[in-house]
Amino acid sequence: MNATTQLHPDNQSDALRAWWMPFTHNRYFKAAPRMVKSAKGAYFTLEDGRRVFDCLSGLWCSPLGHSHPHIVEAVTRQIQTLDFAPSFQMGHQAAFDLATRITQLAGRPQDRVFFVNSGSEAVDTALKMAVAYHRARGDAARTRIIGRERGYHGVGMGGISVGGIAPNRKMFHPLMIQGVDHLPHTYNPAQMAFSVGQPEWGAHLADELERIVALHDASTIAAVIVEPMQGSTGVIVPPKGYLQKLRDICTKHGILLIFDEVITGFGRLGTPFGADFFGVQPDLTTFAKAVNNATVPLGGVLVRDAIYEAFMTGPAHMIEFFHGYTYSAHPLAVAAGLATLDVMAEENLIAKAAALAPVLEKGMHSLKGEPHVIDVRNIGLAAAIELAPTAGAPGMKAINVFQAALNEGQMVRFTGDIIAVAPPFISSAAEVEEMVEGIRRALRVVPV
Ligand SMILES: Cc1ncc(COP(=O)(O)O)c(C=O)c1O
Repeated sequence: MNATTQLHPDNQSDALRAWWMPFTHNRYFKAAPRMVKSAKGAYFTLEDGRRVFDCLSGLWCSPLGHSHPHIVEAVTRQIQTLDFAPSFQMGHQAAFDLATRITQLAGRPQDRVFFVNSGSEAVDTALKMAVAYHRARGDAARTRIIGRERGYHGVGMGGISVGGIAPNRKMFHPLMIQGVDHLPHTYNPAQMAFSVGQPEWGAHLADELERIVALHDASTIAAVIVEPMQGSTGVIVPPKGYLQKLRDICTKHGILLIFDEVITGFGRLGTPFGADFFGVQPDLTTFAKAVNNATVPLGGVLVRDAIYEAFMTGPAHMIEFFHGYTYSAHPLAVAAGLATLDVMAEENLIAKAAALAPVLEKGMHSLKGEPHVIDVRNIGLAAAIELAPTAGAPGMKAINVFQAALNEGQMVRFTGDIIAVAPPFISSAAEVEEMVEGIRRALRVVPV
C-alpha cells in the first residue's frame, strides 16, 4: 500500500476512500459509517437492517415519502419516452405545463418560472436576475445585494456571499461577490426562547434595512434576499410583522425582495409557499427540494411578470437572459414535478401538513425541561431544539443526540448543537408523537 492508497488512520475500509462526502466530517463518518440501503414511504432502511423514521423528510425535500408509486410511474414512463431534451432553443411541453402549475399553486398566474437543478443554482439565478433587471431598466448602479446573518442560500459563490453562516464563507472570501451587506439575524434567546410559533419580539430588526439603505443609498441596492423561515441554520422563525416590514421598506426604495423558499416552498408551513403563510409576497421566489419530492434534482425561480417583461425589450431573435444549465427543465425532473403536484392535490397533502403542525408543535414543546434543551422553536411542520453545548466541544452534543435518536429509530438532522425535524406530510399523528418520544429518550441517555 503506497502513500496515496493508504487508509486514513480513522478509516475502517478502503471501500469508503474515494467519495469525499459533502457537509460531512469525513474522517469521523468513515470511522463509524452510517449507511442507508433503501427507503419507502416515511422510513429509511439502514444497511444493518434497521428501519428508521425519516424525521427531516430527507433533507427537507421528500414530504410525500420515498418511492411514491405515482412518481415512480411518471418518471419510469418519462425515461422511456424522452430521457433528455435540450432546453436551449428547444422546448418540451411538460416543462411549460409544470411552470404553469407552479404559478397557479403560488396564486401568481401571471408569473414566470426559470428552471434550474438545485437550490444553490436557484439562488445564483435569482441574484443575477435582480441585478440584470435593474440594468435592463437603465438602473445599472443597483448592484448591491442584502442578505442576512445565519442565512443559508446554498453553496454557489453568490449564495455564500449573501448567506450568513460563517463556516460556509470563511475559506472562500477572495472569490465571493463584492457589494453585499447583511441584515442581522432575528434570533435572540433572551427574548424568544421557547416561543410557540412566531415570536412576538423582534419586528423592529427589519428596520436595520433602513440603516443599510441610508449607508449605501437605495440607488445602489438591487435586492434583499431572505428565507422566510431560516431553515438550515436551525428553524429560526421570523418575528410577527418582521417580513411585512422588510416588504414595505423594499417597496419604498425600489429594491426587489427575494424569498428563498427552497425549504418553505411546496407546503412545509401548511400553505403552498411561505409567502402565503406570512401573507407577504416577494418579487422573486427561489424553490427546489419538495417541488418534485427530490426524486430528480430540480429547482427554479418564480419571477414577477414585470421583471420578465423588463428583459423582453431588444430584438426578438436575441437571447434576453444569458443564463441556463444543460439540465434546466430535465424531462425526468419535470415528470417528477408534475406527478408530485398531482399527488399533493389528490391526497390533499398541504392541508395534511397544516393539520399535523399542531401535533408537532405540542410534541416538540413538551421537550422543554428535558436534559440539554435550552430552546424549542417551531413553525408549520418544522421544529428544532437547541442543546446546551458540551464545554470545549461545540457540536458534539448534537452528534450524540443524533446517534442516540438513531438507536431509537429516529433519523433526525443535526447542525451545530441543534436538532431539526420536518416530518413527511404523509406521516400520521402517531408517528409524529412517536418521533418526539424517541427524541425524548435520546436526550435522556446522552450524558450532561
Ligand atoms: C433556503 C435554502 N436555499 C438554498 C439551498 C441550497 O439548495 P441545494 O442544496 O439544492 O443547492 C438550501 C438547502 O438546504 C436552502 O435551505
